[in-house]
Amino acid sequence: MPCKIAPSILAADFLHLEQDIMMLNESEADMVHLDIMDGVFVPNISFGFPIIEQVATICKKPLDAHLMIVEPQKYVQQVKQSGAYLMNVHYEACLHLHRTIGEIKESGMKAGVTLNPHTPVELLEDIIQDVDMILLMSVNPGFGGQKFIDHVINKVARLKEMILRKNLNTWIEVDGGVNLETGKLLVDAGADILVAGNFVFNSANPLETIKKLKEI
Ligand code: DX5
Ligand code: ZN
Repeated sequence: MPCKIAPSILAADFLHLEQDIMMLNESEADMVHLDIMDGVFVPNISFGFPIIEQVATICKKPLDAHLMIVEPQKYVQQVKQSGAYLMNVHYEACLHLHRTIGEIKESGMKAGVTLNPHTPVELLEDIIQDVDMILLMSVNPGFGGQKFIDHVINKVARLKEMILRKNLNTWIEVDGGVNLETGKLLVDAGADILVAGNFVFNSANPLETIKKLKEI
């Protein structure tokens, strides 16, 4: 089965964001990935609800919101109202993860749990049955254009084994440093969805790049 691609608009041209979203609308991308950073959970600040709401008015692809913020449970309704299809919260940011996942699903969104590079997939044993997607970080979150951390391949394989053992359909998404080479390793290990920022938006032909990623 071909993998799904979620380009991250963190690497888009914010002065011409409309053009970039129109390009994604015409592309083979499956979702559009939104990186929301608060300067507390990660050492960077990106964009928030006003931008997401505007993007949602023209974007034809489902919005995959990645909340790199503390206390994401406070914003479930706002994320839903801004037009997100899927809300990813970090395992490391949620004290009452089970409750937060329940609230995300009750709002009508798909629920994802994200793991930083150092967080073992085994910690998902007692929550994975309740989530739609696991997002594994293959860089330390906060910035686009970082080097891929190879160890995530091993994590994808271990997570896939857990999903199969439990007879679940949970999607595995991987985020950070994805290109054709790392993407192939990830898909071979069991990844279903690849996030790609710089590799798509800094390429000469983003439409073609998305197509090539889809063909992995
Ligand atoms: C990092 C973000 C990523 C990032 C990916 O904190 O979560 O989604 O934008 O960018 P690339 O593909 O450039 O590594
Ligand atoms: Zn992300």
